[in-house]
Amino acid sequence: MRSYEGFGVDRGPRQSALTAGTDEQLVTRFKRLLLEEVDLHELGRLEVAQRRLRLERVLAHLVSREGVILTTRERNRLVRRVVDESVGLGVLEPLLADPSVSEIMINGHDTIYVERFGRLERIPSGFTNDDQLLQTIDRIVSTVNRRVDESSPMVDARLPADGRLPRGARVNVVLPPLALNGPTVTIRLFPAALGMEDLLRFGSVDEPTARLLAACVRARLNIIVSGGTASGKTTMLNALSSFVPGHERIVTVEDAAELVLEQEHTVRLETRPANVEGRGAVTIRDLVRNSLRMRPDRIIVGEVRGGEALDMLQAMNTGHEGSLATVHANSTEDALSRLETLAAMSEVELPFDAVRDQVNAAVDVVVQLLRAPDGTRRTVQVDSLVSRRREEFRLAQIMHFEPQGGDGRGRYVQHPVPRGLALKLRQRGEPLPEGWTVADDEGDTGGTVPWSS
Ligand SMILES: Nc1ncnc2c1ncn2[C@@H]1O[C@H](COP(=O)(O)OP(=O)(O)OP(=O)(O)O)[C@@H](O)[C@H]1O
Ligand SMILES: [Mg+2]
Repeated sequence: MRSYEGFGVDRGPRQSALTAGTDEQLVTRFKRLLLEEVDLHELGRLEVAQRRLRLERVLAHLVSREGVILTTRERNRLVRRVVDESVGLGVLEPLLADPSVSEIMINGHDTIYVERFGRLERIPSGFTNDDQLLQTIDRIVSTVNRRVDESSPMVDARLPADGRLPRGARVNVVLPPLALNGPTVTIRLFPAALGMEDLLRFGSVDEPTARLLAACVRARLNIIVSGGTASGKTTMLNALSSFVPGHERIVTVEDAAELVLEQEHTVRLETRPANVEGRGAVTIRDLVRNSLRMRPDRIIVGEVRGGEALDMLQAMNTGHEGSLATVHANSTEDALSRLETLAAMSEVELPFDAVRDQVNAAVDVVVQLLRAPDGTRRTVQVDSLVSRRREEFRLAQIMHFEPQGGDGRGRYVQHPVPRGLALKLRQRGEPLPEGWTVADDEGDTGGTVPWSS
């Protein structure tokens, strides 16, 4: 019996793929056959996962048709490699999908290192030559409309998470002659998005608050997440989004797509900067307006920072309840004034009172986050908006974090939930979760703490 490298099994005396050529020849041959067989146009319309599935099917059929005899394992491996190299990111694909890998470093086609749990390890390279590596590099950077070639031999790009990349990544490429080892690629994979479970584990939110916020999301209340730079707004938005029931149609609108929603029926929209001639920009506002024509059940806006505030408030007031957004502000009150100011600044000539009414009618709950100097992130306040039309904003505190001892520790304090909010929850099938009581009056409107970042 003879075993040999490559598809890697002891094939035994049975005549097999040996006669059909070496591994590389097989891969090349089937890549070519696959391209002849599939309709690329049709393929482009499929989701990445479906595309793979379709190619795998066609390929399995081709392998039988060509009469290449392979064991099941060899055949699976051949199919995977051909599909990887035809549509995906080739040999990088399994590494990108591996949650334990935090960094991938390629120093020329034959040397790959990965970092796992802070340790570097060299792994066998699946690239057979620099050309193949270059093709993969090309595929990576072209997804963000970048180019890397002799005229621009260095590229640094941020890749959003998508069906192909489970996590976002930052990619740096340096080509020869600047890189003496051959094409050199450094890929830093961003940590997977944190969910509510993680936030609970880190103590960034307490259990009763997490339960209440989840109920608010399910009950289609409009929630604004507020906080300073890097306070965890996007992370909280993502965690809250996970409570949107799976049967709803969600449209997300972001500057750089960061949200990773698990719901299948999610449409993700991302803005586009102007081109070199200063044309073609698509703003958050354009996308929010367009999203209204896409029959969304919910609209999730990554960050409101302009005139889209008005469109979003109107959407929240007209059948797209349960929408979520973040805004950059240092207190729950600031968050409301900021929304008001941004909405008023939009080009539509609306009296200020009317804008205030929009905010009063739209916003149900404001969640305030804070990044402490030591880097910990916390939900420091949750308020319910209790003011009505024609009134100044009034917020009722539902929860606040009370620091103790000055070393960042403290406790989460629950307040009775305003009647209006409790009623709305109940009417929508969400009784107050464990740990909460209903206020006798509208709620505790005393004192909003300004949290500065
Ligand atoms: N509760 C948390 N505990 C620990 N790390 C967190 C927490 N929330 C967010 N992070 C981390 O903090 C960083 C910033 O988080 P995030 O992007 O959510 O903040 P942001 O407020 O949206 O920032 P920006 O102002 O840039 O939009 C990320 O690396 C994220 O993983
Ligand atoms: Mg953000």
